Amino acid sequence: MKRVFSGYRPTGDVHLGNYLGAIRNCVFLQKEMDENLICVVDLHAMTTLSDNKNLASDTLMMAAAFIASGIDPNRSIIFAQSHVPLHLELSWIFSCLTPLGWLNRMTQFKEKADKNRENSCLGLLAYPVLMAADVLLYKATHVPVGEDQKQHVELMRDLAGLFNRTFSKDLFSLPEPVITGPATRIMSLRDGASKMSKSDISDYSRINLMDDADTLAIKIRKAKTDTDPLPDTAKGLETRPEARNLVSIYAALSGQTADQICQKFAGNNFSTFKEDITNLLIEHILPIGQEIQRLLKEGKHLESILKTGAERANLLANKHMNDVREAVGLLKAL
Ligand code: TYM
Repeated sequence: MKRVFSGYRPTGDVHLGNYLGAIRNCVFLQKEMDENLICVVDLHAMTTLSDNKNLASDTLMMAAAFIASGIDPNRSIIFAQSHVPLHLELSWIFSCLTPLGWLNRMTQFKEKADKNRENSCLGLLAYPVLMAADVLLYKATHVPVGEDQKQHVELMRDLAGLFNRTFSKDLFSLPEPVITGPATRIMSLRDGASKMSKSDISDYSRINLMDDADTLAIKIRKAKTDTDPLPDTAKGLETRPEARNLVSIYAALSGQTADQICQKFAGNNFSTFKEDITNLLIEHILPIGQEIQRLLKEGKHLESILKTGAERANLLANKHMNDVREAVGLLKAL
């Protein structure tokens, strides 16, 4: 049984990194996998509780973004994490197994907790444990993510192995990360050294799926580049992070390789190249944003998709959780 699980935090605008790095791979995988779960991980979004004034509406927006991007509710189970409480039960069981040393080593925790570790919340440290529960609750075999989540997927593999060894049961297989395509790490448009992210205070740093045509054009026009002309091979981009990032975006949207793109624009400055990227965004991203807006207007339809998704996810989760409870020795509910 090949089963996909992929999760997305509903923390404001969905951006090009989310789409090209992960959502689009879920769309492709729908065709070859037996079961696809795509989840709005609203509980994960709670680690930034004070910033999340619109958690419920952002959850609907994320679900709309899945569908507008090509996730088919008939082929995929689309649901909100908090509608399946068993994620939390499994997360607690895993919490009782996970060595603190593993969590302290997580790069994202180190970055987010920064120098303020003593005042960071427990949820931030436990974040990857809940993530492991998300995936292993469904015995998922494939986890489409961007490169930034690789370490978290490694931790869930380690946890699956630790659980199996501790309880001498082969309950969990090791999930495979699916990190593929030319856009596994899209960088900020303002700084080629940082990831494109929702938390960047500058909206010019990212392309949002809901941006209109004018905004797309302005953001690309203002995107940071250097003063050299484009090189004739992708190798020439190695020390030019901003140019490399734009070529990756171009490659992901056009289906061409970085070398083909460099050949096409070799020796030119960035202006025609940027115009082409804007056109590609208008062709591929603008319709997604428009479809998100349409879906949000008919809120009831979205809600019913999430309801059906939660029902299906709960069924699967219950079945697997019974095996886990038995393995760890909990008394059966009487
Ligand atoms: P999140 O919500 O930050 O991002 C969702 C997905 O988008 C990918 N992504 C990117 N890919 C390429 N370039 C970028 N700049 C970029 N920014 C984000 C992320 O890698 C991710 O795949 N912890 C996860 C959510 C999660 C999850 C899970 C994922 C919770 N449970 C279980 C997979 C399986 C997160 O914060 O992703």
